[in-house]
Amino acid sequence: MSENTLFILKPDAVARNLVGEIISRFEKKGFKILKLKMFTFTLEQAKKFYDIHKDKPFFGELTSFITSGPVVAAIIEGNNAIATTRIMIGATKSFEADSGSIRGDFGLGLSENIIHASDSQESFDHESRVAFE
Ligand code: CMP
Repeated sequence: MSENTLFILKPDAVARNLVGEIISRFEKKGFKILKLKMFTFTLEQAKKFYDIHKDKPFFGELTSFITSGPVVAAIIEGNNAIATTRIMIGATKSFEADSGSIRGDFGLGLSENIIHASDSQESFDHESRVAFE
């Protein structure tokens, strides 16, 4: 079933020049890039994007990091895109993520965990609206 999802290459991925390498994984997997945008989140936009985490103790750290530098947002299309992308990015804690996953191969952090991807259709609708507004 073809569906769309969104991923964000976080400021650590951009600063470490990993943009091409990571996007290439999605292209090689067979996804089609529908939209691609580099920008820096405003604090207001970051709070809206991560609204679901607003009561978590790490909310301040999360919004502070995601606004700390440019990010690259992409909307991609392909079979089972939401779940397959979540498998490709790996566990939230990069230091526990499987080798072969994006976080497992490129990161060691938690806040600084390289990439975000929508985890449901509802998140995709919300997050793509905020990122591409
Ligand atoms: P992401 O996929 O962008 O979704 C929410 C983010 O919150 C997550 O990746 C992590 O970067 C971050 N996060 C989750 N748990 C914690 C935590 N305990 N401390 C700091 N950041 C966290």
